Amino acid sequence: MRESEEAATAGTGAPEGDARSAQNAADTPGAPGAPNARDAVRALRPSQIREVANAGFGVPDVLPFWFGESDRVTPQFIRDAASRALADGATFYTHNLGIAPLREALADYVSALHGETTPGHVAVTSAGVNALMLAAQLVVGAGDRAVAVTPLWPNLVEIPKILGASVETVSLTYGADGWTLDVERLLAALTPGTRMLMINSPNNPTGWTMTREAQRTVLEHCRRHGIWIVADEVYERLHYGAHGRPAPSFLDLATRDERVIAVNSFSKAWLMTGWRLGWLVAPAGLMDDLGKLVEYNTSCAPSFVQQAGVVAVREGERFTQSLVADLRASRDHLVAALQSIPGIDVRSPAGAMYLFFSLPGGEHSLELCKALVREAGLGLAPGSAFGEEGEGFVRWCYACDPARLDAGVARLRGFLASRGLA
Ligand SMILES: Cc1ncc(COP(=O)(O)O)c(C=O)c1O
Repeated sequence: MRESEEAATAGTGAPEGDARSAQNAADTPGAPGAPNARDAVRALRPSQIREVANAGFGVPDVLPFWFGESDRVTPQFIRDAASRALADGATFYTHNLGIAPLREALADYVSALHGETTPGHVAVTSAGVNALMLAAQLVVGAGDRAVAVTPLWPNLVEIPKILGASVETVSLTYGADGWTLDVERLLAALTPGTRMLMINSPNNPTGWTMTREAQRTVLEHCRRHGIWIVADEVYERLHYGAHGRPAPSFLDLATRDERVIAVNSFSKAWLMTGWRLGWLVAPAGLMDDLGKLVEYNTSCAPSFVQQAGVVAVREGERFTQSLVADLRASRDHLVAALQSIPGIDVRSPAGAMYLFFSLPGGEHSLELCKALVREAGLGLAPGSAFGEEGEGFVRWCYACDPARLDAGVARLRGFLASRGLA
């Protein structure tokens, strides 16, 4: 029995094996005490990034590099498209799986990047995080086993737990080449009976990007054992390899009607974080069931937002390419600046928009990040927020103007000097 269940059962004397009592003993009808959420919900990890941000309340002029978003607004041509759609009265519910023009535009976009994909393989979602929840709801339930590769944006690890699944993590390893995946270790964790692998590449927070060879090996293994792959590819365009090419994708290798679901988002490639728009590529045979899940979660993404999404996908390629060029320059700028500080170990990642680096005094990253925001007005995310293997590191989102990066580096330098650490 897991720890939370033990505590719950002990409180009521509920018989072991009585799943209802064991899972929700703290809120049994008629039981005394405060009303509580289900144990599975109470056991979810709260966000440590939020904890650091809370420590900074009241600190004037904080430079926030802790969240995963750019400091730039959505491009004007996309905002204009939303204004037009609103003016035209696009204020109604839409089809659960999205408006036809957006599913068609996305099918064309995905086909151009990864090979033939029909609108019947695409579903529009309320951003990437909702796409992850829907994918998990499609394939895992109570008692199922999922595997995730970490360090990782916490949502992927926590979402299956909301559904009662257990999540085993396989850690990337940090060495001379930065973060790498030991494929054999991952395969060993993907035992027969595992329902789902959740894998995010390019990865938040490390920038690690899975190689085509590793994807092929993992896909073949999952095929053999009937394991679903939920591939979080929201950073696929933020890839600094061959010019303009996205990161290697499971969609390049898989057919569209096997156990692979690719999650994507408008948040990163078109700077649309606040719009809450994303999509899934999944087997056509799943779409009826997916439509039911969308109905019971959100019913649909907002109509005028979807219409703006069509314009982003159809007309946004030049914007995305220039964004990636800017991000590459920001990445290189920040790497060089941090490397000039003694004791900082920082590498240049292949994808996403973060540097995940170790620094003197960083052994307790949560405490360090709280001190940084309180004492230096510098907002970084603690590595421990992304799993225990992230401890000792901090994450810095570099999707901003180089002058702001310089101001942040000066604050970090001053903080370390004041503590005699650099
Ligand atoms: C790895 C990863 N997946 C998914 C998302 C979801 O983004 P959104 O819900 O804004 O589409 C994020 C956001 O930061 C992310 O880092």
